[in-house]
Amino acid sequence: MTNKAREVIVLENLEQMTEVAVDAFKKIAKQAIKERGRFMLAFSGGKTPVNFYQKLAQNKKCSIWDNTHLFLSDERFVPLQNSASNFHLIKSTLLDKLCFNHFHAYPVEVAAETSSIAAKKYEEKIREIFHLKENELPEFDLIMLGMGADGHTASLFPNDSSLNEKRHLTCAVSNDQHEHERITLTLPVINRARNVIFLIEGAKKAEAVKVVIEGQNLNYPASLVKPSLGQVVFLIDTAAGGLLSNKGGE
Ligand code: 6PG
Repeated sequence: MTNKAREVIVLENLEQMTEVAVDAFKKIAKQAIKERGRFMLAFSGGKTPVNFYQKLAQNKKCSIWDNTHLFLSDERFVPLQNSASNFHLIKSTLLDKLCFNHFHAYPVEVAAETSSIAAKKYEEKIREIFHLKENELPEFDLIMLGMGADGHTASLFPNDSSLNEKRHLTCAVSNDQHEHERITLTLPVINRARNVIFLIEGAKKAEAVKVVIEGQNLNYPASLVKPSLGQVVFLIDTAAGGLLSNKGGE
């Protein structure tokens, strides 16, 4: 990977994407811990990152986790035991397999009365752990994101008012196209990250990938991810990159 503001890497398959993602994860984590004593991280849900979480879980004693503070890029407003919960996915594929008895992982308080209260509480937790002053944004060292075929990322969906949120760090999202209400990091937080890595695979996303990488359709939330000071890397398999003019990435 280079230190360009945006990099597009097209790889043969999910296995190769995962290898590159794991290497980048370790490099970013070690640098953050060296420079600031801790690694501030946010993971997404969905199917694509499962292979990546399983790969990380193979190194059970990886010392990185001792200094890692793990948040969620987004969450469904369901009990943590529910199979639709992103925290449940990350806990079962990764956290439960690591040899640590205490862990700095921060699930969304989905037991709150409403998704709006859960979002507010998550914002308060982020402010607490990052020791933020009023109006200060958290600087995540790494935010891992996926993308839907409609160009959504985290739980930022096309044409949703959450895309215009400029003040809050999190917000609640609900629309009839999605079974569950959601809580998501907002764009100001995502665009404050030092590193954002997208994992995108499969032909069904090829159209959205072409628009996000080559077009300027700002209706696609993933197009709005442009870290102001950091780097965004799109790790894409050949199927998802199948419509790109430059199939080798950039
Ligand atoms: C979620 C995710 C979501 C995901 C995309 C891609 O809560 O569902 O955070 O933003 O990254 O929908 O999902 P897949 O990896 O399953 O295609």
